[in-house]
Amino acid sequence: TKIFAYAIRKDEEPFLNEWKEAHKDVEVDYTDQLLTPETAKLAKGADGVVVYQQLDYTAETLQALADAGVTKMSLRNVGVDNIDMDKAKELGFEITNVPVYSPNAIAEHAAIQAARVLRQDKVTDLKMAKRDLRWAPNIGREVRDQVVGVVGTGHIGQVFMKIMEGFGAKVIAFDIFHNPELEKKGYYVDSLDELYKKADVISLHVPDVPANVHMINDDSIKEMKDGVVIVNVSRGPLVDTDAIIRGLDSGKVFGFVMDTYEGEVGVFNEDWKGKEFPDARLADLIDRPNVLVTPHTAFYTTHAVRNMVVKAFDNNYAMVEGKEPETPVKLG
Ligand code: COI
Repeated sequence: TKIFAYAIRKDEEPFLNEWKEAHKDVEVDYTDQLLTPETAKLAKGADGVVVYQQLDYTAETLQALADAGVTKMSLRNVGVDNIDMDKAKELGFEITNVPVYSPNAIAEHAAIQAARVLRQDKVTDLKMAKRDLRWAPNIGREVRDQVVGVVGTGHIGQVFMKIMEGFGAKVIAFDIFHNPELEKKGYYVDSLDELYKKADVISLHVPDVPANVHMINDDSIKEMKDGVVIVNVSRGPLVDTDAIIRGLDSGKVFGFVMDTYEGEVGVFNEDWKGKEFPDARLADLIDRPNVLVTPHTAFYTTHAVRNMVVKAFDNNYAMVEGKEPETPVKLG
């Protein structure tokens, strides 16, 4: 049995080696290159591939992989929004993802950043760097004084709710699917409009499906409370970035936490030092004292990365051995 892995980073190697040690009967080979129509041939002779990338899995890429004889593909991440599902289906692909690798990684990041925005910590950091050690006028807001509105109550949303409750916040939630436990405890409001009207902090934990694209826009921001804090550690396209900028400029939006960005592909996880920065709007957001931009690093913890690698290999191994993988992705 042979498994080939793409885009393996240095920080993933120890976990990959751990898996190899535990599966001496499997030949594992890998590259640091992304899966593209050109690199697909590297997988020739393998029974399955383990992949992670933000770059799209286009029809051409999937075709090239099928031409190399591989149609069993295991993602090391959750999101499947960058796969040409029609083509995957047509070519008879079997795909798995890792839907739960560490909800805490992402929820924790959202909570930390939301609290930092409320306390205006970045303003203090920027002042400190200039040796301005005065307090006023950037007074903080305590988390316990906020109503926190959580959009999406899956694994990540639920951990985020617990953390914010730990701080003492009042938590409300909206989801089209009601979790019975949360329902019993009375967290759910009836509509997104109601959540927008009531929440001081709004955090998104829903997938990038067409119905959710630009759910945060000029109209929804208009419905929100003055001084709202918006948190997007989920998927860039959920937020109309220009609308957020208008909200920040008018003062309606107090602060914005942005770990995912609609223009992030090809920009995040690259070193732009000494090079021309490709996105003026993003540069403007990065420079704002009330905006916390991180380059899609909410997931990036040792706990999460270990699970991403190990669970993806487990899934792929099961598939190539003709067994049922733990977390198959439904195509189409
Ligand atoms: C996902 O798991 O879908 C993510 O968003 C994290 C990814 C950048 C590895």
